[in-house]
Amino acid sequence: MIKCDVRIARSFISDEEYISAHGKVSQGYKQLSEKSGPGSEWLGWRDILANPNDAILEEIESLATSIRSDADIFIVCGIGGSYLGAKAIIDALKPHFSSKGPEILYAGHHMGGKYLEELLQHIKAPKADGGQKKVYVNVISKSGSTLETALSFRAIRSTLESMYGDEAANHIICTTSDEGGILNQLIDAKGYKKFVIPNDIGGRFSVLTPVGLIPIAVAGIDIKALYYGAVSAYNRYEEDIEDIIEYTSLRNALHKAGKTIDVISCFEPELASFGGWIQQLMGESEGKEGKGIFPTVASFSTDLHSLGQFIQQGKRSLMETFLIVENSFSSIEVETLEGDDDKLNYLAGKTFHDINTKARLGTTEAHQDGNVPIINLTIEALNEENLGALIYFFELATGVFVYSLGVNPFNQPGVEDYKKAMYRLLGKD
Ligand code: PA5
Repeated sequence: MIKCDVRIARSFISDEEYISAHGKVSQGYKQLSEKSGPGSEWLGWRDILANPNDAILEEIESLATSIRSDADIFIVCGIGGSYLGAKAIIDALKPHFSSKGPEILYAGHHMGGKYLEELLQHIKAPKADGGQKKVYVNVISKSGSTLETALSFRAIRSTLESMYGDEAANHIICTTSDEGGILNQLIDAKGYKKFVIPNDIGGRFSVLTPVGLIPIAVAGIDIKALYYGAVSAYNRYEEDIEDIIEYTSLRNALHKAGKTIDVISCFEPELASFGGWIQQLMGESEGKEGKGIFPTVASFSTDLHSLGQFIQQGKRSLMETFLIVENSFSSIEVETLEGDDDKLNYLAGKTFHDINTKARLGTTEAHQDGNVPIINLTIEALNEENLGALIYFFELATGVFVYSLGVNPFNQPGVEDYKKAMYRLLGKD
């Protein structure tokens, strides 16, 4: 269950401004729920929660169990919506220093040659006992032709072929659209295992399809709990949409009032990649026709020592969205030190979570004084159910917000421009 507290942000907006935004947002929600807005053919991310498909979850769980029992390394090869959701959940829930399960690596999300070269060397290098590493790759591309992903996949599959010969195909899992694209041609020619991305779900809305669920399950995370957390949120907001309308109305009113940047801030480092997923979801959905709020991510208190200065006193074009985790799983506390030579005994007996909470409350006070509208989104604990709910919260809120601006949330025409220029420079037909 997500608690949405807009009180601070609301104090920056007049009643008239709020009422006007509320009207636009209610209209946006109507368009989304009635499938009457532009891009309505891309609303499948709601349908998969209205009608959950346990068979696909079980198929993914069984694949993940067999990979986890065999693999030393699992590579997630994709870019944008094809990897950010998986990374968000894995970074949020996988223990930091556990050696249980395969090492999860990412590829295909940029074209840095040094990274790819070192990744290939790493997978080829023998294990400490001299044995060969067992490496699997999940290539994820809805179009099946994205250059960043395709280039890395070419290098990785040729390395796997050099390591395993004819067996290499058993180490390759492909997630793509049901037909079309070069990746589908390769799948047919080589017999790779394939999972399908539904046609009516775009990349950045696809984390709860095989796109995100396969890597998340291989990382040892309970995908049923994640999925059903989103299903619960879906059911909750079908019954009562007011939280989404209120949150979105505030963003709409702040956008109109000239706020051009939304700093998605978290106080748990585990949530920083989740912020990255939100950033893509909002950025690619909103930023069109000269409209939208530029989403950026801050991981506090780390970034209080970098972005904090700007947020406090720089150009007043910011709003903030705090992602708050109420309870901590960790009970580590400050110990009492005899002699108190570092003068920290005043904190002795307090948990790190208590201290972190005070840092958050202090930051809220300071940023509010610095005229930054803040929206607080709180989950009780960092777990699969709550992250599933947050995924749906942000997907729904983004769709509604973008419709309230009069824009299609589900396309990304601007992304094509860099591709066209790049392909021309690369001499592609
Ligand atoms: O949200 C989107 O649609 C994009 O970010 C895509 O996910 C990204 O461009 C990758 O595309 P593809 O999966 O076709 O390789």
